[in-house]
Amino acid sequence: MSHKHRVSPGATDRGDVVDLLVTNIGELCTIHDPDLDESVPRRREDLGALNAIAGAALAVGDGKVVAWGEEEALVRELWGETGLNPAVETVDAGGACVVPGYVDPHTHAIFGRTRQDEYERRIRGESYLEIAAAGGGIQSSVKDLRQRSEQELVDLAVPRLREMLRHGTTTVEIKSGYGLDLDWELMMLRAAGAAAREAGIGLVRTCLAAHEIPPEYRGDREKYLDIICREILPRVAAEQLADRVDVFCEPSVFTLAESERILAEASGLALGGTIHADELEPYGGAILADRLGAESADHLIEIDDAGIAALADSRTVAVLLPGTVFTLGLDHYAPARKMIDAGCALALATDFNPGSCPILSVPLIQAIACTQMRLTPAEALVASTRNPAFALDMAHAVGSLAPHQTADFLILDGDDHRLVPYRAGHNPVRAVFSGGKKVFSQSSRPLNDV
Ligand code: NIG
Ligand code: FE
Repeated sequence: MSHKHRVSPGATDRGDVVDLLVTNIGELCTIHDPDLDESVPRRREDLGALNAIAGAALAVGDGKVVAWGEEEALVRELWGETGLNPAVETVDAGGACVVPGYVDPHTHAIFGRTRQDEYERRIRGESYLEIAAAGGGIQSSVKDLRQRSEQELVDLAVPRLREMLRHGTTTVEIKSGYGLDLDWELMMLRAAGAAAREAGIGLVRTCLAAHEIPPEYRGDREKYLDIICREILPRVAAEQLADRVDVFCEPSVFTLAESERILAEASGLALGGTIHADELEPYGGAILADRLGAESADHLIEIDDAGIAALADSRTVAVLLPGTVFTLGLDHYAPARKMIDAGCALALATDFNPGSCPILSVPLIQAIACTQMRLTPAEALVASTRNPAFALDMAHAVGSLAPHQTADFLILDGDDHRLVPYRAGHNPVRAVFSGGKKVFSQSSRPLNDV
C-alpha cells in the first residue's frame, strides 16, 4: 500500500502554508528592514523608514505574516509557474495603503463617567491642577469608579475598545489607577482583561495604583505606599493581572524617591516599569526611567536637556501624548524634533482617559503629532507601530509586518500613508485584520478615486 504525500492547502513551493493573500496593495508599509538591527526601536533617520513596496501582495498563514513582495514576483516565489494556489483566500486591497495595526501604549480606558464638565471649566480658565485641587480630576473618577460593579466597567469599556479597533488599534495598553485600593485596583485590571477579550483587541495591562494618593490616606502617604508595595503589587503579580507598573511621578503627586521605591518593588516581582514623567513640571522623571531601565517614560511635555540626554540611545522609549496637550489647551508640546535629533526612541500614544484626553483615535493623534510637533507622516506611523511595540515589550510579536509577526494590519482608504494625518478627523481605516482575521471593515470610496 502506498502512502500518498499530502500537500496542505495553500502550501507553497518553499514549504510554508499560506491561507490568505492580500493583493493589489498600492503601498505596503512593512516597517521591517533586514539590513537594520531590528532588535531595538527606531531612532533618528530610521524613525521615518517605512520600507514600503508599491504594487505589493502580503501572504499570511496561521495568523502570522509569511512573506510579501511585488505581487507577481511574490506569487511566483511562493507557487512557481503553477501560480496562486486556489485554496488560498484572497483579499483585494483595491490599490490602497496597508500598514501594521496600531499599537497604543498608554491609555486609561477603564473608567465610569466622562468629565466634559472639567473640559468646559478649563476652557473658561481653570487649570488641570486647580480642578484637581478642588476635588475634580483623578479623584472624581476614583469616586465614580468605586460606585460601580466590575461588569458595569466591562460594559462601559467594550464599546470604547471596539471604537479603538475601528480606528486601527490592534494592541492597546490599559492602566488601572482609578481604584487606589487593593480591591478596586484588582477589579479594574480584571475588567480590562474581560473587556479586551470581548472587544477582540490585543492587550497589555499596567498597574497604576500610584496614580494619586487616595483621599483616605491624604494624611498618611507612607501608609498608602506600603499598601502599594506590600499588598497591591504582590497580588497583581501573583494573579498575573498586569505585565507592568506605572507611577505618576510629579512633585505634587509621587516624588522621585517614592517612584523609585515602587518601580524597584515591581522589578523584584518581574513586572516591567514605566513612568508618567515630566508632564506638568520638569522634574527628572525621564532620567529616573532611564536609570531604572524602565520600558518607557511617558508625556515628557516639560523634559529638559538633561532628560533628553538620558533618553538618547536609551532602552527606555520616549512615549509622547500630544492629544493631552491638545485637549488641555496647553501652549506647548513635548520637544519632539529635538528628542529625535538627540536619538530618543519616540513613540506616540493617545492617553485616552476621561480627564485630560478623551481622544482614542491613533490617526487623529498622528495628525496632531505632525502639525504640532513636526513629525513627518512616516515618523508618526513608525511611532504608532514599531516603536510602541518596544515600549510594551511586544516587539517580538506586533508593530511591524516582519515575517513571523502576528498578522495585524490595516487596509486604509487611500494609496498613500500621508493621507492619514493630512485628513485629520477622518477615520482612514477601511479594514482591520487581527491575527490574520478580518475583525472590522467599512466600505468607502478610496480617496485616490476622487
Ligand atoms: O495621563 N497624568 C495623569 N493621568 C492622566 C490623567 C488622568 C485623569 O485626569 O483622569 C494623564 O493625563
Ligand atoms: Fe496617562
